Amino acid sequence: MSKFVIKKSSPLKGSIKVNGAKNSVLALLPATLLTEDECIIDKVPDLQDVKVMTSLLEQLGARIEYIEKEKIKITSVPLSSHEAPYELVQKMRASFYVMGPLLARKGVARVSQPGGCAIGARPIDLHLKGFEALGATVEHGDGFVEARCDGRLQGANIYLDYPSVGATANIMMAASLADGITHIENSAQEPEIVNLAGFLNSMGADISGAGMDTIRIRGVEKLNGTQHEVIPDRIETGTYMVAAAITGGDVTIENVMPEHLKPIIAKLKECGAQVIEESDDKIRVIGCDRPKAVDITTLPYPGFPTDMQAQFMALMVCADGESVINETVFENRFMHVNELRRMGAIIKEEGHSAVVSGVKMLHGAKVRATDLRAGAALVLSGLIAEGTTEVDEIEHIDRGYVRIEEKLRSLGADICRVED
Ligand code: UD1
Repeated sequence: MSKFVIKKSSPLKGSIKVNGAKNSVLALLPATLLTEDECIIDKVPDLQDVKVMTSLLEQLGARIEYIEKEKIKITSVPLSSHEAPYELVQKMRASFYVMGPLLARKGVARVSQPGGCAIGARPIDLHLKGFEALGATVEHGDGFVEARCDGRLQGANIYLDYPSVGATANIMMAASLADGITHIENSAQEPEIVNLAGFLNSMGADISGAGMDTIRIRGVEKLNGTQHEVIPDRIETGTYMVAAAITGGDVTIENVMPEHLKPIIAKLKECGAQVIEESDDKIRVIGCDRPKAVDITTLPYPGFPTDMQAQFMALMVCADGESVINETVFENRFMHVNELRRMGAIIKEEGHSAVVSGVKMLHGAKVRATDLRAGAALVLSGLIAEGTTEVDEIEHIDRGYVRIEEKLRSLGADICRVED
């Protein structure tokens, strides 16, 4: 077990580079199961979740090799198993992404039923409804979900009750090898979905409409190997943008896609920070003395991302005024509230909303990273709290940030990792 020890830091200054997006690579890796050919994925971030996904692919029979530091070669022939075991699925829900590709390629997939997680129940009903609409039979039992189909899946019209990122990705992968045309209506529009569609198209799939509310997939008989890049991580970018704003610093962030950051840019500007798009892959954030309180509501893309809610709350905790934060995507995503209170934050929780009354000063405390983004929010708060903050259970943070402490230190933050 490790922890971060953080001392109040001066305004962050300098330049950093963000890594490839966790949520993008976690969809691209299982998509390689759809072909027997070799796939090469570049800009793969060195993250714990990536290690879990590559172990899972290896258990299914894929051969994986790092040909450069961030470049991975995957060959999935032959696939020796169609089962994703409990040990891996319970570590990371995105393991469920192998179900669509396995079903399409092998006609059968058996995946441990993901449990709830800290941020909510997170059911998989929409994934399964999609597979059934494509002609699969789905059975539950002994902690597993098993889907089977005789011959190829059949294209279908599928309406998602909610634009779920995972369901859209899983159904899109399965439908790319189906017989006929599939429409996913009310599909997720996240950039990671667009990147996955681009990856599948470069493998020979025929997908249009990704990034809009209906995706059309004309199934093909076979997919080929390809080479593709992971897009920059918009949540990692957003986290460092907030780091600049919360410390009143001046930070330039490289390897970014400003068009993916619109709600974050808008809200930071509303708070009084200056956000300058220096080029199409570089953004500079200059914080102000004290941010103004603003309200946010999390929504599916292109709305304000739920994965930035906790970090934004950290900013509002020390803002001038009262801000209302509405969480509409997950039902239990305020785990950081109690930890922030331990540092002196004044937050009232009312169902899916949190009312934050900004304080002038936070004080350091021992706190716990209850999940990935909650952990990031506590690190950000530690940068401005008087005294010392110790953030425990930082393995959650390592799931989604490549060496966050080194990047923050390069900007002048006083943070170190202590191995217990
Ligand atoms: C993905 C992201 C996660 C992000 C989330 C929302 C990955 C690996 N993870 O998670 O970081 O926070 O999108 O932007 O990309 N739901 C159902 N039934 C389903 C599926 C989802 O009710 O079958 C509900 C969920 O419980 C949740 C909402 O839909 O309340 C959104 O979930 P979803 O978009 O599927 O998130 P994930 O794909 O799990």
